Amino acid sequence: MILCGHRGVASLAPENTLAGLRKAAELGLSWVEIDVQLTKDEKVVVIHDEKVNRCSDGKGKLRKYAWDELRKLDAGSWFDPAFAQERIPKLKDYLALARELGIRVNVELKVYDKDDAGRLCRKVSKLIDKHGVDKDSLLFSSFDPDCLRYLQVLQPEVPRGLLVEHIPDDWQQQLEQLECAALHCNYRYLSREQAEAVKAAGYRLHCYTANTPDKVKDFPAWGVDMLFTDKPQDYLDAGWSAG
Ligand code: G3P
Ligand code: MG
Repeated sequence: MILCGHRGVASLAPENTLAGLRKAAELGLSWVEIDVQLTKDEKVVVIHDEKVNRCSDGKGKLRKYAWDELRKLDAGSWFDPAFAQERIPKLKDYLALARELGIRVNVELKVYDKDDAGRLCRKVSKLIDKHGVDKDSLLFSSFDPDCLRYLQVLQPEVPRGLLVEHIPDDWQQQLEQLECAALHCNYRYLSREQAEAVKAAGYRLHCYTANTPDKVKDFPAWGVDMLFTDKPQDYLDAGWSAG
């Protein structure tokens, strides 16, 4: 089972920053997960929330910020003053560093109210082509099935994962229609029967966001392929492999 650093390594560095990506490399992880959205002037940036408030010294909705204003925000001091130099990264810079560090990236496309899923997907797709990003180094995921439909057409070679909280009854039908490679679910609600059914149907199973190794000790035996965690260091300390 692969340990995937959630939002970089969210317990050791400000989430979704280049510092977090470097931390993942230091720990020997092979995968990280990040969240992406569009600025007002349609740059793809790495940030989770609809607003910049929680993870920077700015205020208000991300989509009101053009890149030139966003790049000035301090995206590290809220976590620790030692990270005051961190900025909200552009996806293209994040992927360039990931390539340098040999880390693969699960790009989660975040769509909030009034966001345009198609525009976000087209921008992400364009930058992947423009910068020649290795498609084997990527995995797309989204709670928004529209994003997965767009990416199915725009970047068919990059594997896709459908994100859900609870696994719905029609999971297999949804995965088939979206031609997904993986189902991403909340680890809290996963049962052994569900895990075995997903695996028996030939899909990868990825679970978020589990920060206590004891709570998921059976997951490798259930066939879970990847675990998103803010605290990969706790798993490594407990003798798990990074995968
Ligand atoms: O992609 C797994 C996980 O990140 C989904 O939830 O809210 O942390 O983006 P969230
Ligand atoms: Mg996420």
